[in-house]
Amino acid sequence: MTFQLAHQETNSKAELYALLQSQLRSLLEGERDFIANAANFSSLLYHSLPDVNWAGFYLLKEGELVLGPFQGQPACVRIEIGKGVCGTAAQERQTIIVENVHEFPGHIACDTASNSEIVMPLVKDGELIGVLDLDSPSLARFDEEDAEGLNELVKVFLDSMNLKSG
Ligand code: SME
Repeated sequence: MTFQLAHQETNSKAELYALLQSQLRSLLEGERDFIANAANFSSLLYHSLPDVNWAGFYLLKEGELVLGPFQGQPACVRIEIGKGVCGTAAQERQTIIVENVHEFPGHIACDTASNSEIVMPLVKDGELIGVLDLDSPSLARFDEEDAEGLNELVKVFLDSMNLKSG
């Protein structure tokens, strides 16, 4: 399979997220393997969203978050629930937008280039399964429009787990 990322010009974040949604649907079509889909999803985000230096997953394993598929610099492997931006988003099951990571109490610095961050919880059938984390070298890179667009993409990703095999 060859997948071409459509580097189409978009005029607004809403347009970009709509395009990404259709690209993500094509990318995940017919496949339900969680790791494979998470890996492709992180690659799509990393290569399509401007001004992002890290995009990937931390997955809930035995009560803590463990690094999953990602794109960007190598990152810290384990994060306690309630710690850092990821652990806080997991604990609160809320999307967290951090305009300046250096002002977030307990922020865990993985890539020194990161200055702002957004973390979305992944909740499937009422269960927390992990978080999706994106970092940017720019301050205040992420806003409510990103949160909405990314959460729609997360829904498409989580729905891919429902596909019946065979
Ligand atoms: N900054 C995150 C840690 C993960 S890295 O950004 C990839 C945090 O504070 O939870």
